[in-house]
Amino acid sequence: MPERRLVIGRQQVHDRVGELGKLISADYAGKNLVVVGVLKGAFIFLADLVRVIDIPHRIDFVRVASYGNSTASSGAIRLAKDVETDLRNSHVLLVEDIVDSGITIAWLMEKFMEKQADSVRICALINKMERRERPVDIDYVGFTLKSGFLVGYGLDYAEQYRSLPAIYTLEF
Ligand code: IMP
Ligand code: MG
Repeated sequence: MPERRLVIGRQQVHDRVGELGKLISADYAGKNLVVVGVLKGAFIFLADLVRVIDIPHRIDFVRVASYGNSTASSGAIRLAKDVETDLRNSHVLLVEDIVDSGITIAWLMEKFMEKQADSVRICALINKMERRERPVDIDYVGFTLKSGFLVGYGLDYAEQYRSLPAIYTLEF
């Protein structure tokens, strides 16, 4: 088992999610908001985030298959589950756990642009810069980190560690 080291504590995550919720609530006030979580990694972040968004909104999910059980993006992406919500006349906020190479979110962004929503924006808990290959504009960022393989708070390594309440790096 790889060693794990705490990088973002539970309270810090909680506080930052609260701030993001406030920002999002203010920015989308009076708008028809649909929060779209990217499964599986975003499920815990999304669950906490929507509970601090104090304006009416709908929630849906997509599932993107890309990573397998490795720590680097394969580049091959497939939409394993699409949204079931009619996105016309609404503003989509894509919620991701982490943006690494940017390949996944750039691909999703393109897909969502075709869906005729009024706007599509991105909210990511973690923006990890070191391996960025595709330029992406992340509208709401929880934390920016340079490198490291992160687990916890929804993030997995080979499907383990998702339920940890804080964010850790794995030291291989
Ligand atoms: P990207 O396409 O390289 O930006 O990767 C995005 C996806 O890879 C994320 O949604 C995660 O599921 C996974 N991923 C990237 N970096 C990490 C990490 O440090 N820990 C866990 N999953 C990661
Ligand atoms: Mg993910």
